[in-house]
Amino acid sequence: MESPENRKKDLCEFYHRLLCPRVAALVVALREDGKPNVMPVAWHTPVSVRPPILAVCISPSRYTHSLILKNKEFTVNIPDLSMKDAVEITGSKSGKVFDKSSIFKFTPATKVNTPLIEGALASIECELNQAIDIGDHSVVFGNVVACQASGFREVWKGPSPLLHLGSNFYTVIKEGFLR
Ligand SMILES: Cc1cc2nc3c(=O)[nH]c(=O)nc-3n(C[C@H](O)[C@H](O)[C@H](O)COP(=O)(O)O)c2cc1C
Repeated sequence: MESPENRKKDLCEFYHRLLCPRVAALVVALREDGKPNVMPVAWHTPVSVRPPILAVCISPSRYTHSLILKNKEFTVNIPDLSMKDAVEITGSKSGKVFDKSSIFKFTPATKVNTPLIEGALASIECELNQAIDIGDHSVVFGNVVACQASGFREVWKGPSPLLHLGSNFYTVIKEGFLR
């Protein structure tokens, strides 16, 4: 029988699941050979509007982390449901041991050298502001230098972004409502 203490401890370990769903995002960073590497992230947040700055929490163990520190730029792309399998593949294999550059198609960005994911619902181009190691992750702050989005007018309309519930669980927006 699981004791209440253990259950409490387990939930603390999974406190982040209580903050789901979160919009799944795909961070692209350029590899040493110039090809794009893709990593899904769910732990991201806007941190400033003027100037526009976002934060992505990336474990220093990810290949992407070292690539962003080296290149000082990255792009953040919002997948839809049709990209679910590709999200899972890029999230289960590291670019350190597997070339992920052919899993998505890419298109040039406008302000940075790192490309955008073709067909993504939205893309955000970032230049590295700073990265701060905290706990087992690194908070990577990006200055937003350009943005594009389809199906977005004030709020998401049309195809839903893919929402991550934790582990390999996902959902989508089925219904929006006005308060
Ligand atoms: C939906 C999803 C969300 C994820 N979110 C994060 C995250 O926010 N931060 C993180 O460090 N890893 C996250 N991961 C794990 C990385 O994407 C995974 O370890 C990936 O293979 C790292 O790739 P890389 O080593 O090529 O950079 C997530 C995985 C999935 C599938």
